[in-house]
Amino acid sequence: MGIWISLVLGLLCIFVYLRKVGSREAGLPPGPPTIPLLGNLHVFPAESAHYKFTEWARKYGGIYSLKLGPGTAVILTDAAAVKELMDKRSGSTVDRPAMHVADRVTGGLNMGLARYNESWRTLRRTAHAVLTPQASVRHLPIQQAEASQLLHDILRQPEARLSH
Ligand SMILES: *[C@@H]1O[C@H](CO)[C@@H](O)[C@H](O)[C@H]1NC(C)=O
Repeated sequence: MGIWISLVLGLLCIFVYLRKVGSREAGLPPGPPTIPLLGNLHVFPAESAHYKFTEWARKYGGIYSLKLGPGTAVILTDAAAVKELMDKRSGSTVDRPAMHVADRVTGGLNMGLARYNESWRTLRRTAHAVLTPQASVRHLPIQQAEASQLLHDILRQPEARLSH
C-alpha cells in the first residue's frame, strides 16, 4: 500500500513540475498565451519570423516575452527600449547564454554570439575603432575609390561582374 502512495505522490510531483514548464514566470514582460511544456513553441514562426514578431509587438508592446519550452526569449522591438537596455544598462544585459556549437564554429570570435569576457571586449574595442559613425567617415574615401573601381571593372568586363 505504502509503495503505491509514494508512487502516486511521485507522479503527482512530476505532473505539477511539468505543468509549470512552458508557463511565463511572474515578472516577465507580457506575451502570447502559453501552453504547458511547449510555452509558445507551437506558435513560434518557422520562417519570416519578423512578420509574427511585428504582429506580437503591436499586441504586447515594444518589450514582450516568449516561452520556448523551459527557456525564455525577450523580444525588443522599440528603439528606445533597445537603447535603454542594450546601451545604458549594458552592464547587466551584455552577456548571453553559452552557445557551444556557435562557439566551435566561430572559435569564440563572433561578437554577436560570444560570451562577455576579455576576448569579447577586445573584439568590441576593435569594432568600435572602425564602425562608429565618426570613425566610418574615415572609410569614405576608400569606399568611394572602391565603388569607382567596381563600376570601372563592370564597364570594361560586364560578363565578369560577379568576380568584380
Ligand atoms: C570568451 O568566451 C568565448 C566563448 O564565447 C571563448 O571561446 C573564449 O575562449 C573566451 N575568452 C577568454 C579570454 O576567456
